[in-house]
Amino acid sequence: MISFTASTMIFHFLVLGALVFQAECYFSEEKYPEESKMQPPTVVIAIIARNAAHSLPYYLGSLERLNYPKDRISVWAATDHNSDNTTAILKEWLTVMQKFYHYVEWRPMEQPTSYAGELGPKHWPNGRYEYVMKLKQAALNFARRRWADYILYADTDNILTNPNTLNLLIAENKSVIAPMLDSVGAYSNFWCGITPQGYYRRTAEYFPTRHRQRLGCFPVPMVHSTVLLDLRKEDMKKLAFYPPHDDYSWPYDDIIVFAFSCRAAQIQMYVSNKVRYGCLNVPGKPHHTIEDDLLNFVHVHLESMIDGPSMHPSRYVHMFPKQRDLMGFDEIYLINLRRRSDRRDRMLLSLNELEVDVKVVDAIDGNALNSSDIKILGVDLLPNYYDPFSGRTLTKGEVGCFLSHYYIWKEIVDLQMDKALIFEDDVRFQANFKRRALRLMEQVEEVELDWDIIYFGRKQVNPAKEEAVDSVRNLVVVDYSYWTLSYAISQQGAQKLLNAEPLSKMLPVDEFLPIMYDKHPNEEYKSHFPNRNLQAYSTRPLLVEPCHYAGEPQWVSDTETSTLWDDDSVRTDWRGSHKTLKGAAQAPEMLSAAYRDEL
Ligand SMILES: *[C@@H]1O[C@H](CO)[C@@H](O)[C@H](O)[C@H]1NC(C)=O
Ligand SMILES: *[C@@H]1O[C@H](CO)[C@@H](O)[C@H](O)[C@H]1NC(C)=O
Ligand SMILES: *[C@@H]1O[C@H](CO)[C@@H](O)[C@H](O)[C@H]1NC(C)=O
Repeated sequence: MISFTASTMIFHFLVLGALVFQAECYFSEEKYPEESKMQPPTVVIAIIARNAAHSLPYYLGSLERLNYPKDRISVWAATDHNSDNTTAILKEWLTVMQKFYHYVEWRPMEQPTSYAGELGPKHWPNGRYEYVMKLKQAALNFARRRWADYILYADTDNILTNPNTLNLLIAENKSVIAPMLDSVGAYSNFWCGITPQGYYRRTAEYFPTRHRQRLGCFPVPMVHSTVLLDLRKEDMKKLAFYPPHDDYSWPYDDIIVFAFSCRAAQIQMYVSNKVRYGCLNVPGKPHHTIEDDLLNFVHVHLESMIDGPSMHPSRYVHMFPKQRDLMGFDEIYLINLRRRSDRRDRMLLSLNELEVDVKVVDAIDGNALNSSDIKILGVDLLPNYYDPFSGRTLTKGEVGCFLSHYYIWKEIVDLQMDKALIFEDDVRFQANFKRRALRLMEQVEEVELDWDIIYFGRKQVNPAKEEAVDSVRNLVVVDYSYWTLSYAISQQGAQKLLNAEPLSKMLPVDEFLPIMYDKHPNEEYKSHFPNRNLQAYSTRPLLVEPCHYAGEPQWVSDTETSTLWDDDSVRTDWRGSHKTLKGAAQAPEMLSAAYRDEL
């Protein structure tokens, strides 16, 4: 035994000696001078979903695209009081995504499907406020128990299209911060002022902030909807969503209760509008249905395709194809220049969201026509035609545009269609486009209005001179106008236009139509077309607008920037032509005001 112990000790000595020797060699030299990087802070994302089936695919798509390591994120998701497919969609997504996130807490509740005393899914009785406050508090308790560094609340109709949103908000190092989100109106997720009773107060800073004339990260009395809380900061322990503060006397509303809690704890709320972070749907009115909410969301979606950044659905949520139809027309045409596939793609996506079926017709590309082609087609210029603003004659683009419309009129007559709808490809749809168009056409049928064309979009020249049609709401007898953005046309109307034989005395199509309904100011042009009996009407407010106006950064017109029709060598550039400048009568505020009255 002893000899064994002794030999073991000797062995130990030798080994230790060797270790000490090695340590002297290696540990004196710094082999890895850099400490490894810090892991990003841990975040809880709180999802509180209700009747959100229409926005969830895009909402979840924006969460999964956040540029932040998912293994540093836990998801806390609650859903309840649904009368749509919200629970199934959320579950489908979480089932796939849970392996990427650090942890997922899932709290679905199937019953009940509404709150006591609730008029509809957009109505908020006190019981609903209280329940939502408790949910937000439960998410906060969860984050605190798990020692999360941050908690991000984001309503399910807030689409964070900017994948850097989380990193950018964290970098601001504020206790409570919201990314300013865009809506289609003045609405956003912050207030600049609050009354002593806790109500919204509009201040001089609101619009400059909302419209991004004033950029930065600003202290404000209220942020809501999407908010990041930094739970590492000491005073954050004092915040609560529920129960309301002991001194609370302001309105019983979850966002106001929380703003009060911040105020009582002397914690400043901030909103940042340094970049575009995303968009949000406007809150519905108490009587609104899920369908109204969907239509509002579709509008936000369509606008995001024009003004960007666009929203994309989740890859892990099944989406049913939209049920498209022709809205009672025999055909709906989309005139698109083949080389403008960007416009075609956006229009097709938009029309699909609106559930409108459309046939794309390749526009005649005026720039590809040379002067002899144009002559072979039988095209000749109207004698003495000059553009009223620039004094130029017809451009090739205008010839191509005319021919594109002309061949559609011909098809309508040849196929004996009752009526068709035509869109050019640079159209911005007004809110509820389809519902309003359907309502209008229904009334037109009901009163058996004798009509040839009905403009859906155009530039009004004398809107004050236009008389309303008594029997049909939102319809006027049209006066001189420009543009052919979109119009409905009857077979009789198409026949009248063909009968006028316009190819041999061509002028721009948007000048030809006013001649045919006899409201063109130029007597000489009119004298070439004796039968000026087109019965023309227009929707008011208009149902579509151009995407961009002349002078705006993205504005390009393919018809007005091409070469003169009979000269293959000269390039013309008509940017800034008065005809394409935005007119006061079409200011979007006025359109939406008119639309509000209609609701
Ligand atoms: C509800 O959503 C799930 C998951 O996306 C889907 O499988 C199911 O068919 C949907 N049901 C209805 C009625 O839309
Ligand atoms: C963030 O703010 C805290 C005070 O709340 C401060 O101590 C800390 O240094 C700040 N961090 C950075 C990176 O500025
Ligand atoms: C115009 O283009 C056609 C082909 O599209 C060609 O055959 C013709 O020679 C051209 N004419 C002139 C004058 O360039």
